[in-house]
Amino acid sequence: MSAPPALLVRDIAQLATPSGSTAPLRGADLGAVVVVANAFILCSGGRIDRVGRMADLEPLAQDVEELDARGRCVLPGLVDCHTHAAFAGDRVEEFALRASGASYEELHAAGGGILSTVRATRALGEDGLKTAVDRHRTWMLGAGTTTFEGKSGYGLDRDIEVASLRAIRDAGGVPTWLGAHAVPPEFSDADRYLDFALADVLPQAAQIAEAADVFLERGAFDARQARRYLTACRDAGLALRLHGDQFTEQGAIPLAIELGARSVDHLEATRVEGIRALAASDVVGVLLPVSALFLGRPMPPARGLIDAGAAVALATDFNPGSAFCESLPLVCSLACMQLQMSPAEALTAATVNAAHVLGRADRKGRIACGYDADFVLVDAPDWRYPAYHLGADLGLEPIVGGERALR
Ligand code: NIG
Ligand code: FE
Repeated sequence: MSAPPALLVRDIAQLATPSGSTAPLRGADLGAVVVVANAFILCSGGRIDRVGRMADLEPLAQDVEELDARGRCVLPGLVDCHTHAAFAGDRVEEFALRASGASYEELHAAGGGILSTVRATRALGEDGLKTAVDRHRTWMLGAGTTTFEGKSGYGLDRDIEVASLRAIRDAGGVPTWLGAHAVPPEFSDADRYLDFALADVLPQAAQIAEAADVFLERGAFDARQARRYLTACRDAGLALRLHGDQFTEQGAIPLAIELGARSVDHLEATRVEGIRALAASDVVGVLLPVSALFLGRPMPPARGLIDAGAAVALATDFNPGSAFCESLPLVCSLACMQLQMSPAEALTAATVNAAHVLGRADRKGRIACGYDADFVLVDAPDWRYPAYHLGADLGLEPIVGGERALR
């Protein structure tokens, strides 16, 4: 494949990027965004070659394609580090039932919820799954997401779990094996299901996935089962993630720390002990405010975590049941309005800190020389509009690897 031509994005009204060169950012560094007015970015070979003020742009020796960004702002491409993009069908009936008072946990216990999406996903097969993931990926791109993680977890058998991971990888995503999402109906209990998943699915899943994830919660997997699953996955070379403290505290934070997990995600039920422990660790707390909003649950204690020194990231949790939303700009709005985070903290949490959770912070999540040329143009006079202009059409134009991704 030939290298993409050099691209000069010029006359950018404001360019905003997380500062520094390390990750994850925490404490005061989380809000230290650098803003350059009247800026340019020069990309070549898919990377950022030069970035600075228009006044300092020297004549270029090479031929370049020019992109006029007058009146627009540029942010790093958004990084969605937690999605369940490999699913079929929808859960609109369940959405309507919840609107009339049914709880997510009741629907789950009655065989609806996650298991109804498992039935639909198994019925779709591999080709349909690829089409579905590609469609979801296009939605994300339209919302400014240039890097996404996608979990399996709606197959819960060997073929559809592996097909889900392949579909995510082939769509350019970062695949995570969520083999321990729920116990499928053909198994009598979680231990027997894990016997099967670890013996029959893990060997193939580990060839494709970069990480493993578990739903550690009442009614799903307990701490002993989560430890067993995660330890086997770590031994197979996978990085570790946990869905933890979504409804109740079941030991997810201590387990994540003990096993050296990259993240523990949700944290809506986390109390002061958990905040202290997470803040003293290298595990990132991934906050999913759309999921809390969608299910009418308390928001995660973002301010407490950040002020205690924890590293946090933001993500959508995109899935058909608890967060049918692919928009990181909306997540950033909720972060500012519901999590008491500043627009700068939200930007860092949805870019470089999220890239850190995916093991890519050395090349994704910042606009800086040598980083991948992934960024997004916003049709607005100020870089904070994606958080500020609630639910708006922001006229986003994503650039991926130095090329327009949506033309
Ligand atoms: O992160 N909580 C577990 N898993 C997903 C929801 C999946 C679903 O409802 O289909 C979550 O919220
Ligand atoms: Fe999730």
